[in-house]
Amino acid sequence: MKTMKNIDSFTHVRGESLFVDDLILRQDALFGLCFDSPKAHGKIKSVDYSKAEALEGVAKIFTYKDVLGENQIGGIIQDEPLWAEDEVHFWGQPIAFIVAKTEAIAKKARALITIEIEDLPVITTAKDAKEKSSFINAPRSFKLGDATNTFLECDYVFEGETFSNGQEHLYLETQGCYAIPQENGTIKLISSTQGPTAVQKTVAKVLGIPMHKIEVDVIRLGGGFGGKEDQATPWAVMTAVAVQHLNCPVKYILNRHDDLRMTGKRHPYNSFYKIGLTKDLKIKAFEVEFLQNSGAAADLSPAIAERTLFHATNSYFIPNVSSTVFSCKTNLPPNTAFRGFGGPQGMFVIESAIADAADKIGVNKRHIQEVNLLAENDEFSYGQIATQVEAKNTWFTAKVKFDLEQLEQEVISFNKENKRHKKGVSLMPIAFGISFTNTQMNHARALIHIYQDGSVGVSTGAVEMGQSVNTKMLQVAQLVLGISASKIKLETTNTTRVANTSPSAASSTADLNGKAVEMACNSLIERLTKVASKVLQCDEIDISIDEDFVFVGGKRSSLSWEELINQAMVQRVALSENAHYATPIIHFDKTKEKGHPFAYHVYGTAITTVTVDCLRGTYEIDSVKIVHDFGKSMNLGIDLGQVEGGLAQGIGWMTMEEIAYGLDGRLLSNALSTYKVPDIFSAPKTIETIPLETEGNDMAIKKSKAVGEPPLMYGIGAYFAIQQAVKEFNPNYKLKFHSPFTPEKVLMGLYSKES
Ligand code: MTE
Ligand code: HPA
Ligand code: MOS
Repeated sequence: MKTMKNIDSFTHVRGESLFVDDLILRQDALFGLCFDSPKAHGKIKSVDYSKAEALEGVAKIFTYKDVLGENQIGGIIQDEPLWAEDEVHFWGQPIAFIVAKTEAIAKKARALITIEIEDLPVITTAKDAKEKSSFINAPRSFKLGDATNTFLECDYVFEGETFSNGQEHLYLETQGCYAIPQENGTIKLISSTQGPTAVQKTVAKVLGIPMHKIEVDVIRLGGGFGGKEDQATPWAVMTAVAVQHLNCPVKYILNRHDDLRMTGKRHPYNSFYKIGLTKDLKIKAFEVEFLQNSGAAADLSPAIAERTLFHATNSYFIPNVSSTVFSCKTNLPPNTAFRGFGGPQGMFVIESAIADAADKIGVNKRHIQEVNLLAENDEFSYGQIATQVEAKNTWFTAKVKFDLEQLEQEVISFNKENKRHKKGVSLMPIAFGISFTNTQMNHARALIHIYQDGSVGVSTGAVEMGQSVNTKMLQVAQLVLGISASKIKLETTNTTRVANTSPSAASSTADLNGKAVEMACNSLIERLTKVASKVLQCDEIDISIDEDFVFVGGKRSSLSWEELINQAMVQRVALSENAHYATPIIHFDKTKEKGHPFAYHVYGTAITTVTVDCLRGTYEIDSVKIVHDFGKSMNLGIDLGQVEGGLAQGIGWMTMEEIAYGLDGRLLSNALSTYKVPDIFSAPKTIETIPLETEGNDMAIKKSKAVGEPPLMYGIGAYFAIQQAVKEFNPNYKLKFHSPFTPEKVLMGLYSKES
């Protein structure tokens, strides 16, 4: 297999790639640091900044009183101050911003600030919040058919409860921004954000100046994973406020501890399900209530809650569904976007419900999964009719290509022969909707310049965060323009070149921005074709461009790309183009909770095999075998990387990453010594991914389907494979759906006697 490498690989491995913290600073640059709440909930009685302000080298300490516009950074709901005013609502909530000559001085100053807070009751769990009617907004419900009455007709009905924990993004590059004053009160920000426009808009609002005075530039991110969709904004705004007052550059990079403490994570969910099946294992009804632990402010929680409802039935067709989600307000840092955006939390519940039913009926979970897979023209609970469905295709291809029968036989004999080690296998199908669930966000633009020497600069709204979107954009430009890759450069993402962008998120960045690049390049080619036809004196219809030359009737002419561009200059033809793409077809009516929100779905099936050490409670993931629907992948190397990375992240969420807050709302898992993420030793021993052979989808860029988030949900398979192994060892084990399935929980399960 030969595909184009990520265009950043050369500078990445040499350590030459630039991140915010690598930038050469202006001589007069100052350094910022947040003073944040040491309590999860309370009234601020007094703060004494005097000692800190008196420290040599401290320029100024900013609080809400220094905000000239609005002290408000809430996106969907205006419920989040930049800096706390009279009350604090989570441990780590920014209260002030110290700006000093060095980071060390700022740190010293922070230790000199004293604060008096009168305690208020702290809520840390969604269940507690619901009991106290502490919500972010009104609940949402999706309905299909009539679940309530259908349960009466079911042969089996089971009810249960699940919990899935949060997850730390752990982007390698922590949050940060460098803000530089320009002329006449304008400010340039170099931010590590997935949403440059969100930063621009919020800075303008808090500073009380128009958006055109703010320029946001993003070089690339050392990972975002959703954690920088909304939560890169506050740090950028703080540096901008400081620049507005001090008129010199200000840089703020969070250290890992501060980043872990102050930023939100994946939402923990407590969920309650009721599942009804017939004797032939068809799921006839499903009722589910999700309690989302949203944290202390809305952030993206309402949108994430919505996506949980969209994915509550995963890749199954269930004719009667009733699902409700509550965004519960707690005293944790506002939880936020994380790869999958609420989808994984929804899917964990339906998979748990199926596992529960299978266990109680006495069949293998996969039999229930298999007979309920989505088929062409099935209706999702939100009204979209499923088309180009690959649920069964990926499932059965996986079964055949990976010889599931043989695999299961091996597991059975292994379990017979071994007392202390047990193996488990699980199948995990996925169906993930592609598009921002908020229809109006599905648009993008590209600006392309062909310079007079024939080299090309491509600007889009896409943010490179390791997912290789820049490489894909380059490929699109190369394909349409018919020139070599070395002639094309991907520019930084900049709000003055490409404005009003949606964040790079929802796995849709390559589709949205790629379509815009394609449109812009097509317009340029149209113009250049006219130029070529004049120069070569032939019909436009016979002209094409390929391999850096103009072709006539399929034959290479002597007119090179460079000469063609030169001729275009002579003929005074425009060599720049801007294009706008908005996803067609999609729509959603929130008053009815019905519509067609997704351009298409991505499908796949993973087979996970694990071995549990029944003495220690530890486990190893032996293999994950995946059949994935890439459509017609435009870069299989990159796409396989996304599958493997997403899978590892999903396994981490399901098995080892354990966020812990104290009852007082303090983050206990506040370092990498207490928060374990997958490393090479805990990664699956083998990962095999077979691309499903399909036609692809026209709404995907070059028919190459979005790949960023869907594979994370394959990781859910690990939970159920471990569970099966535990059950093999301990037939008395009563199934629990409480992730992550850490070795401690496995050990307790292995020796539990309840039944
Ligand atoms: N891959 C890397 N290496 N780094 C990231 O930060 N983010 C993920 C996914 N893959 C991420 C990643 C998330 S949350 C999303 S939404 C998509 O990439 C965003 O990029 P795309 O829209 O281009 O797929
Ligand atoms: N995914 C990711 N980010 C988003 C979405 C979504 O569906 N909607 C709004 N922000
Ligand atoms: Mo991804 S969670 O949509 O940034």
